Amino acid sequence: MSIYFDNAATTPISTEAKAAMVEAMEIFGNPSSTHGEGRKAKAIIETVRKGIAQRLNCLPSEIVFTSGGTEADNWALLTGIRDLGIQHLYTSAIEHHAVTHFAEYIEKNHAVQVHYIPHNGQGEHDLTWLEGELTAKKASGEVCMVSLMHANNEIGNLCDLEGLSAMCDAQGAYLHSDTVQTMAHLPLDFKQIKVHFAACSGHKFHGPKGIGFAYVRQGTTTQPFIQGGAQERGHRAGTENVVGIAGLGAAFNHCVDEMAADIAHVTSVKAHAIARLTSEFPGIQFNGHSGDLQKSLYTVLNFYHPELHEGGMLNFQLDIQGVQCSGGSACSSGAVGGSHVLNGLGSPGGTRISFSRYSTTDEVDRFIEILKGISAQN
Ligand SMILES: Cc1ncc(COP(=O)(O)O)c(C=O)c1O
Repeated sequence: MSIYFDNAATTPISTEAKAAMVEAMEIFGNPSSTHGEGRKAKAIIETVRKGIAQRLNCLPSEIVFTSGGTEADNWALLTGIRDLGIQHLYTSAIEHHAVTHFAEYIEKNHAVQVHYIPHNGQGEHDLTWLEGELTAKKASGEVCMVSLMHANNEIGNLCDLEGLSAMCDAQGAYLHSDTVQTMAHLPLDFKQIKVHFAACSGHKFHGPKGIGFAYVRQGTTTQPFIQGGAQERGHRAGTENVVGIAGLGAAFNHCVDEMAADIAHVTSVKAHAIARLTSEFPGIQFNGHSGDLQKSLYTVLNFYHPELHEGGMLNFQLDIQGVQCSGGSACSSGAVGGSHVLNGLGSPGGTRISFSRYSTTDEVDRFIEILKGISAQN
């Protein structure tokens, strides 16, 4: 039986999401139509929006459905430049490419300076440096935006988003956070955490692919990312993905409502993996903070072992044996030069295993036996 340990790339769809989508398929009206069939479709969208807003302690009007995390990230950064007049973007070289590539694009095409927040070999950012920069820019009246992810998708490093939001608030800087890996995985309260933008992707928590949302704090001026009709209160044109939104909502609500149990279960699976890897493979290293349960997301573990990784074939060898995991972000697998995150850390390489509520300690044990077999052959 195969082992699916690539849940940071995507997760299997839940029964709840599937059922909600099948039900929504029966509603064929255009949500913008004012007649009965249209209103039924609109009701699905608005019920989902309300349910999400309630769980994030924000206003329903602050949730804008998008095609996923990439669009939400791109929109936030573009808005910063086009609508909020930011002159400086502070981000990190180890963000997801949805941010780093867009930052490169805007630096080339717009009058904005992109600054990369220094980090150490564990991927820990120098927030004292950032505070100094924001203080200086505030003094000279320049407008800044910070974009830092809540949890790194490759190494799991967690950022203290509440602390960061307080710092940005004090310095008058806008804050965007790519929360794709933590939405519906960690408690998020947008009354406490004063971000201006956050991103969500349905397929990271057992919902469908191609649907997500942007959180946009009330009062933050935004023009649509996609021009056209007046959908999403004029924020995002195009007939809504009603079936996707229904699935996203069911998955989101279920994961948030079951979060405490999921965190306990998945943390125990990860702790078991750390303990078994450490005892069976002396010399193993965990990339970033992924081996530290306090400092990393409970779903992500990224390890490197000189003997296992020698030759760079480990992920292929695991795949042949039915273990699905990855060398880095799924979006950049196959990229020349490997993972920009691991390269940025100065790590010689790594394998990311990532868990979900369906992962078990028994799977971890089978994974260890497979690794031992590979190690014996190498
Ligand atoms: C941290 C992070 N940001 C953004 C994305 C992109 O999300 P989507 O696949 O919905 O475009 C991903 C997905 O891989 C991710 O892990």
